[in-house]
Amino acid sequence: MIRPNSIEKILLDEQTIARRVDELAAQISADYADADHLMLVGVLKGSFIFMADLARRLRVAHHVDFIALSSYNRGTVSTGAVRLIMDTRASLTDRHVLVIEDIVDTGYTLKYLLQTFSARNPASLRACALLSKPERREVDVKVDYVGFEIPDVWVVGYGLDYNDRFRTLPYIGALKREVYTKQ
Ligand code: PRP
Repeated sequence: MIRPNSIEKILLDEQTIARRVDELAAQISADYADADHLMLVGVLKGSFIFMADLARRLRVAHHVDFIALSSYNRGTVSTGAVRLIMDTRASLTDRHVLVIEDIVDTGYTLKYLLQTFSARNPASLRACALLSKPERREVDVKVDYVGFEIPDVWVVGYGLDYNDRFRTLPYIGALKREVYTKQ
């Protein structure tokens, strides 16, 4: 397995991720068994691998759509301001909407999304995140399905990046601290 020099250690290996994605898919399939019009909305770019794996394991009919956001950061620090740069193609009205995130960190992005989407009158609105960093939360936001709670380290791989690098590593690794503190 390729392990670039910048990776301190592997936090979640491929098998561990796959098992948990299986469990999440089973739980979501059970919860939405009677729901018409399930719509998965992936938040680009980070969610693209998780969303692809999760969607293919669901046993309920669903559609997929995507949005892209831009958060205003100062260096590696979030300012809390979020802007929608690409909206979903489909309407969310009367759909059972499940937002798919790779990670919930401060919570600003998901809070913004849930507020924005709830104004569109979906039939229901929930959120699923592969990763959550509870220590970093700055706003209160409900994440209905969480894959793993992780400590406050910079994680990359399985969709997650550092300056757009490392997204396609098959595992989730912790970046060496000196890599993200030297800028
Ligand atoms: C990441 C992640 C979430 C958001 C979470 O996106 O994918 O959308 O940050 O952070 P928050 O809880 O502090 O708001 P990022 O801006 O890195 O973009 P990317 O998904 O394109 O990598």
